[in-house]
Amino acid sequence: MLSAGVNIVGFSWITSPAATELEMIVLDWLAKMLKLPEDFLSTGQGGGVIQGTASEAVLVVLLAARDKILRKFGKNALEKLVVYGSDQTHSALQKACQIGGIHPENCRLLKTDSSTNYGLSPDLLSEVISHDISIGLIPYFLCATVGTTSSTGLDPLLALGKISKSNGMWFHVDAAYAGSACICPEYRHHIDGVEQADSFNMNAHKWLLTNFDCSALWVKEKSALIQSLSTNPEFLKNKASEENMVVDYKDWQIPLGRRFRSLKLWMVLRLYGLENLQSYIRNHIKLAKHFEELVAQDPRFEVNTYYVLQ
Ligand SMILES: Cc1ncc(COP(=O)(O)O)c(C=O)c1O
Repeated sequence: MLSAGVNIVGFSWITSPAATELEMIVLDWLAKMLKLPEDFLSTGQGGGVIQGTASEAVLVVLLAARDKILRKFGKNALEKLVVYGSDQTHSALQKACQIGGIHPENCRLLKTDSSTNYGLSPDLLSEVISHDISIGLIPYFLCATVGTTSSTGLDPLLALGKISKSNGMWFHVDAAYAGSACICPEYRHHIDGVEQADSFNMNAHKWLLTNFDCSALWVKEKSALIQSLSTNPEFLKNKASEENMVVDYKDWQIPLGRRFRSLKLWMVLRLYGLENLQSYIRNHIKLAKHFEELVAQDPRFEVNTYYVLQ
């Protein structure tokens, strides 16, 4: 109510220093709650930004990574770029490829099965990447998921991160719903390996008591986003931006206008505090386990998805 009522349209720092700076602060807090690597904090070359949805998050990083690799290989290499995910990856990746001009045949959704609890196999990924390189294609983007939508699958971040780094690829981690649980120390290991990621996303509006929309995205290299998404028309020029001393979030997202979404997250973090948010997550997991026990007792049903948070 407050966020809607104050009606900030904070696209550049100058249009609302409070909205911009609070966003930087609360995303640093949340990054610390999740024990994300320091490179994701606003104090260095990286930082966090609130997007509307996980779909927008994967789109903006896919574009940033695309433009970064095209600066190396030249614009004509666009049709050679290859994107990797699994058959459990959210369809948002495919949509991002469509928007980003990736050749429709170059979005590889690799097959998973129950033997890896529906996680992407590093061996299969390495094999496919080697084949793509051998036929002259350029592997450039990997989207791993922590908590896939239909099977709660977990992609092995440590192994996948190594593969993407050794092939010079951008490594994005989509933890849209399950990421919130990693504020509890006993579940944090599910994102071990995030240290190697170029970007990490979780939706505070899914499992962290924040009203829709509030999708937190962190990147290690904010300049990659800015190089892809910034525009600088005469009517937006101002001294603060020109002196390069401030963050202008319009250059980290698709739209120009933006709401005071950090106020919602600030309210939640300040009202509940870390311990209460951890209790809330733990209680949900307890309820899910109880639900599984009830379902397992009924012969009409079979439990065929896996707790992401065992
Ligand atoms: C793992 C995962 N990624 C992405 C999405 C897309 O979410 P959004 O509606 O925020 O774009 C979802 C939504 O269900 C999801 O579970």
